Amino acid sequence: MSMKVTLFGMAALAFAGAAQAQTEVKIGYALPENSHYGAGALTWAEVTEAETDGAFSFVHYGSSGLGGEREVLEGLQLGTVEATIVSSGTLSNFVPEAGVFDIPFLFRDFDHARATLDGPIGQEMLAKFEDQGMVALAWGEQGFRHITNNRNPVAEAGDLAGLKLRTMENPVHIEAFKTLGAAPTPMAWPEVVSALQQGTIDGQENPLSVIVSAKLNEVQKYLTLSGHVYAPNVLMVSKIFWDGLSEDEQEAFRKGAVEGGLAMRAFVDEAEASGAQAMADGGMEVNELDLDQKAALQEALAPAYEDYARMFGAELIEEIGKVE
Ligand code: PAF
Repeated sequence: MSMKVTLFGMAALAFAGAAQAQTEVKIGYALPENSHYGAGALTWAEVTEAETDGAFSFVHYGSSGLGGEREVLEGLQLGTVEATIVSSGTLSNFVPEAGVFDIPFLFRDFDHARATLDGPIGQEMLAKFEDQGMVALAWGEQGFRHITNNRNPVAEAGDLAGLKLRTMENPVHIEAFKTLGAAPTPMAWPEVVSALQQGTIDGQENPLSVIVSAKLNEVQKYLTLSGHVYAPNVLMVSKIFWDGLSEDEQEAFRKGAVEGGLAMRAFVDEAEASGAQAMADGGMEVNELDLDQKAALQEALAPAYEDYARMFGAELIEEIGKVE
């Protein structure tokens, strides 16, 4: 278990002495502190601790130190965990509408995704989490997801036939890979690397930020830059915790979360620029899908797109398409 009190928190504790009691904020996330999650969580902590003069001290549980993402979200609902940064893996199990952002090839590029999430559509989605006992403060990011596996390079849907591909426990992703002919195997992240090592799954899909941070080149041979779906994150706190904060404190947490989300995006920009080369240097065989190959995948996904339109509403999907 990785646990770390941020430096500011420790310094504030030392100087404040008995004069000020610090409230501990347990924050859980899936990857280590040197990942985009750590970049987001450490920034969130620093800003919030500074804005509240050290009244709060974040204690970091990276690398799934508080369990898988679903468990952490349940902890938020119960009030046993104060804060998290969570992927879209389990979000739609709590707020089904949030699954709209998981539709393959929905977003044209990073600018389109970020503008949508920062605009009214994304902000209204965040507000829906409150009914589930969570206060979603800001969008963070992982990047566009790509496929890694040990069987063969992927250039078209046929290359995915029967591939045991670990997906998140995300119904939209599962349907997409089934439609493409793969054998999607939903699994919580903490089990993935050992399942790849043992060969119980052939591959997985994640953005370069994750592929690099988790050193997947050590357990996977092929990397296909498919960019098949954008992967957002949400920075959120427990509603039970939130309701106990003053307005100023809430503002400090919100400001910290927004800054944390921006820190994640900066980390992802860097991973996008250097990650594929780093993985090739680390021994992976890398191929990148061109526009025609991506269009062919979208064509193969046609039956799934019909379902998505039924699930989320064709109007909303069109509205997202129009965001500049
Ligand atoms: O694939 C996943 O489960 C997620 O992308 C991960 C690795 C937990 C990061 O959020």
